[in-house]
Amino acid sequence: MLLRCCVISVLGLFLLPGTYSGVARKDTHVDITDQTTLLDGIGMRAAFRFLRSWMFNIVGRTGQRISGSFLQEQIPSDVPFPCNVSLGDINVIAAMGDSLTAATGAAASGFVDLYQENRGLAWSIGGQWNWRNVTTLPNILKVFNPKLVGYSLGDAYPFHRDSQFNMAEIGAVSYDIPYMARAMVQRIRNDPRVDWKRDWKLVTIAIGGNDICSFVCTMRYPEQLPAKHRLRLQRTLRYLRNNMPRTFVNLVSVPSVSKVVMLQRKPFACESLHHGECSCWIGKLYNQSDSSRERWSKIQDEYIRVEKEIAESAEFRGLDEFAVVYQPWSLNVSMKMNGKDTDYSLLSYDCFHMSQKGNA
Ligand SMILES: *[C@@H]1O[C@H](CO)[C@@H](O)[C@H](O)[C@H]1NC(C)=O
Ligand SMILES: *[C@@H]1O[C@H](CO)[C@@H](O)[C@H](O)[C@H]1NC(C)=O
Ligand SMILES: *[C@@H]1O[C@H](CO)[C@@H](O)[C@H](O)[C@H]1NC(C)=O
Ligand SMILES: *[C@@H]1O[C@H](CO)[C@@H](O)[C@H](O)[C@H]1NC(C)=O
Repeated sequence: MLLRCCVISVLGLFLLPGTYSGVARKDTHVDITDQTTLLDGIGMRAAFRFLRSWMFNIVGRTGQRISGSFLQEQIPSDVPFPCNVSLGDINVIAAMGDSLTAATGAAASGFVDLYQENRGLAWSIGGQWNWRNVTTLPNILKVFNPKLVGYSLGDAYPFHRDSQFNMAEIGAVSYDIPYMARAMVQRIRNDPRVDWKRDWKLVTIAIGGNDICSFVCTMRYPEQLPAKHRLRLQRTLRYLRNNMPRTFVNLVSVPSVSKVVMLQRKPFACESLHHGECSCWIGKLYNQSDSSRERWSKIQDEYIRVEKEIAESAEFRGLDEFAVVYQPWSLNVSMKMNGKDTDYSLLSYDCFHMSQKGNA
């Protein structure tokens, strides 16, 4: 009986793929993202892993699918690789982030598929197949350096081997990044394929979508969130600078949530899933209105400003073995493609995460 309750309640958490940690952190008064709960305990972790592995097998490996509108166009084999820069110096690639970095549902064709993390297809860290049909950063780097290690090999959860140095956790928030950085350093350092001191490492950090979508509206002082974001990024970057020799960090701006969740006439599945995945913007649970959305939108703009400021701050400039580059991805992202106002094939089944094509 107890087991069954446990299974049911944990499955309940699964019903909100992007936001399960929101359910876990119930207190709606003080900074819910800053709390540790029972669910963070060692015992819970084992149970949680077991359940997730079970779910993994139920869903199956969706990332191996070779047809569907979610796939990018294959680049023919007679087209040569288009550029000629020497990127061969990077030996190790890693990433931290949330479900966008986990490539949740990138190959999804139905609801259940959203439980699969198609990490091999993630734009920043997926290395499945090759650049012709999965045009990702690792697959491009592999052209220059076939010995590259760290990219995700295929569908996996973070504790699976195939995840490699992809540390992303679905539902992760800015608060989780310093912890993820420590776990990442440990994972890379212990890997016998890596020459810790000599290899150059490329790390992509992309976080913040969940803060803006699911947590900002549950906080008492949401306007403090950007300042906290700054501290966490600062702490993370200092830690990496001091502990991870020869590292190049891509700091990717927080995704522009309104561009996807405020789409008009979206499919029914998306309409309903957005209630769970972006509950600060969609639905009535938190008295959402245009003015509340305006408020969250300002906080999002602050996030972007803070990220840029940190990446460009003097303490990370001009160092021989450490660099941070700000990637303003969200500023110019557009769903307009191929003459359509919104090209849904860029998005996953939930119109929130990106499809394989969107990743590429
Ligand atoms: C991508 O290319 C690999 C190797 O050529 C092939 O095995 C795989 O099926 C292709 N995937 C898709 C989606 O076309
Ligand atoms: C790439 O570099 C090689 C050798 O340096 C040169 O022969 C070739 O023309 C270059 N290709 C492009 C597309 O610039
Ligand atoms: C929504 O508005 C109602 C009525 O104004 C109020 O009682 C309720 O506490 C509000 N809920 C939230 C989450 O702000
Ligand atoms: C966004 O796109 C426009 C037009 O394509 C370009 O002029 C502008 O520089 C871009 N902005 C950024 C921040 O990349």
